Amino acid sequence: MDKVIGVIGGSGLYDIAGLEDRQWQSMDTPFGAPSDALLTGWLDGVKMVFLPRHGRGHRHLPSTVNYRANIAAMKMMGVTDLVAMSAVGSLKEAYAPGDFLVVDQYIDRTFAREKSFFGTGLVGHVPFAHPTCPRLSEICLTAGQEVGGTLHMGGTYVAMEGPQFSTLAESRLYRSWGADVIGMTGMPEAKLAREAEICYACVAMITDYDCWHPDHDAVDVAQVVATAHANAERARALVAALPSRLKGPQTDCASGCNRALDGAIMTAPDR
Ligand code: ADE
Repeated sequence: MDKVIGVIGGSGLYDIAGLEDRQWQSMDTPFGAPSDALLTGWLDGVKMVFLPRHGRGHRHLPSTVNYRANIAAMKMMGVTDLVAMSAVGSLKEAYAPGDFLVVDQYIDRTFAREKSFFGTGLVGHVPFAHPTCPRLSEICLTAGQEVGGTLHMGGTYVAMEGPQFSTLAESRLYRSWGADVIGMTGMPEAKLAREAEICYACVAMITDYDCWHPDHDAVDVAQVVATAHANAERARALVAALPSRLKGPQTDCASGCNRALDGAIMTAPDR
């Protein structure tokens, strides 16, 4: 079976360019409807599946995105490698609006979302010390380097509930924890991708300095939209540079993403 690349687009990325045989396909999953129809097509001979996380026209709040349906839909479409593109605020001076950062750790502060495909009747716990796939993250890095602009490798993403932005005290707290960027959608997406045994990487697109920076205005939607818009072309180019690097048959993931359920189930099998 060949690899299938999934892309979840965040604020500013509602489409991917250059797809052959492109089709918007509505679908349903056992967990309900995804955020929108899925855009499928081929790029460099690789099947691509794109989903705008908030829906076209940005209609779903971070707390009401159906993350389980989104990941289930990707799995049902045969996605093996999933790249999340996410607008974030920066918690460090060195990460400026307009920069991209490949995330490798998360602090999950969300509390009002369904976070697992498991539940009563089937209990499981997947390993999650390393929440992103190192191989896929490396591919995002080289794709981003080809496209140009400043791209940082590795960083910790604080996932907050929102939809309000952080208070100054919260922003300072997250900085004191050593976190690098903050956003509202990175979790539970990454957790669910692991439970679905899909390799997952996140390219964070920095749009603002949140509210901690003494020389910058506190974040507002106008800033996020303006920076996301200015970087949309580069985000699209990064996505277009993925298939030539991922082309070919699905192979066993060296980090075990595609085997995450091996040994994860606690529930005794039916007799
Ligand atoms: N998305 C973009 N900028 C953000 C910020 N500062 N906080 C939370 N989510 C964001």
